[in-house]
Amino acid sequence: MSAVSSLCGVTKILILLYSLGPCFAQSYSDSSYVATEEISTNLGEAEPRDNGLDLEFRYHDHDQLTRYLRAVSAKYPALTALYSIGKSVQGRDLWVMVVSASPYEHMIGKPDVKYVANIHGNEAVGRELLLHLIQHLVTSYDTDAYVKWLLDNTRIHLMPSMNPDGYAISKEGQCDTIHGRHNARRYDLNRNFPDYFKANTKQPQPETEAVKEWISKIQFVVSGSLHGGALVASYPFDNTPSARICRSSVLCSVFQSYAHSPSIAPDDDVFRHLALVYSRNHAKMARGVSCKSGSPRFENGITNGAAWYPLTGGMQDYNYLWHGCMEITLEISCCKYPPAHELHKYWLDNRESLIKFLAEAHRGAHGFVTDENGNPVERAAVRVKGRDVAYHTTKYGEFWRILLPGTYRLDVSADGYLPQEVEFIVVDSHPTLLNVTLHSAKRIDAGGPYYRPVPLPPRPPPAAPNSGIFSSLSNSFNSFVSNIFG
Ligand SMILES: *[C@@H]1O[C@H](CO)[C@@H](O)[C@H](O)[C@H]1NC(C)=O
Ligand SMILES: [Zn+2]
Repeated sequence: MSAVSSLCGVTKILILLYSLGPCFAQSYSDSSYVATEEISTNLGEAEPRDNGLDLEFRYHDHDQLTRYLRAVSAKYPALTALYSIGKSVQGRDLWVMVVSASPYEHMIGKPDVKYVANIHGNEAVGRELLLHLIQHLVTSYDTDAYVKWLLDNTRIHLMPSMNPDGYAISKEGQCDTIHGRHNARRYDLNRNFPDYFKANTKQPQPETEAVKEWISKIQFVVSGSLHGGALVASYPFDNTPSARICRSSVLCSVFQSYAHSPSIAPDDDVFRHLALVYSRNHAKMARGVSCKSGSPRFENGITNGAAWYPLTGGMQDYNYLWHGCMEITLEISCCKYPPAHELHKYWLDNRESLIKFLAEAHRGAHGFVTDENGNPVERAAVRVKGRDVAYHTTKYGEFWRILLPGTYRLDVSADGYLPQEVEFIVVDSHPTLLNVTLHSAKRIDAGGPYYRPVPLPPRPPPAAPNSGIFSSLSNSFNSFVSNIFG
């Protein structure tokens, strides 16, 4: 079953994201009545404390979480929209709540951003923090000018749990175990994405397929993946190319799993900055104190993913290389599933970081690529000179490129058009608006039959499969090493 048809089969999608196409429209009209009815029923029976006004600092199981999200969407219809991107192996909805002044519709020219929590089912703090972030945003909109600005200019998509099945078997108080980490088929979802550097042979799981479909439909500009088990903001790349001398040696594969060498992304400066925005706005992350004796300490509370430990099939590299979304991994608690009475402290520690990080979507350059008639050019490749990675325009011709202050050259190309180069400046205080007009390549050829379209730049190619035993050996070492950490 394709991802699209499984999405269409979801009966409780509460909203229509117009970019998601006709099957979603169908689901919306079929299910909105049911959903409304369930909200009123649930509100009647539920603990009155979860009425969407108060949210206690305690853990919420899947049903309580669902009830809370529905109550909020009923109470704040102008600021929130609830949708499900699919179901877990055991049939739990993968909920996403949008918080924005335009919850149902993308605002053309304004960024969409996201957080995904609880991808490891036993890393539970992020799951609760996203509920509190929802609560904070909707209740502060009228009183907090910064929150109002953020919601007026950004659509924030929050997924409290990507792994509700793993969470269902996890136990409060378990700080270091891996019980509940995997999905119901025992797959680690943060090793389940296509990988640029090495072939990922793991069978794609429904939770991963749903996320892949989701992020292919919405152009997210920044994203945070919330984890536990350490206190650090980790940024791409998580994986690393095989060193040349190591291609054919088992020992080298093993060695590489432990080698603490960074794997530098073309946007390393931007990723470091984003990680620092999180760590420096956090109550203690930037101090870089190690969680316990023997575990690493991270200078300024940030690290390159591979420098910590390399992994294959992670979500952040995929977001960046496949979709031009700058995702980082936020390890927000030394204990993976701490006692509930500590949740309030975690919220206070992370509140500022969670908000300031998302606002980084408004840094750098953004704009539209249009043709001579002002029509948007979709899937034009947008490259910043010196950064070997292509971003692509949306169907409205939009692009976003987070960059630090400086002078840059932008290279814009699309099938059937002459490539265009634009020099521009980025300042700290506000984003640079860049509208680029592409001219048809045909005009130059004066209608002759010799026009050859410029081929679209290829998507990241699948890495050459590592052969047999070396690959599986190094993979199992990878998963062994990484299971120790978040
Ligand atoms: C940039 O392009 C968009 C979309 O075509 C248009 O709405 C906007 O007015 C343009 N802005 C400037 C400053 O040209
Ligand atoms: Zn984790």
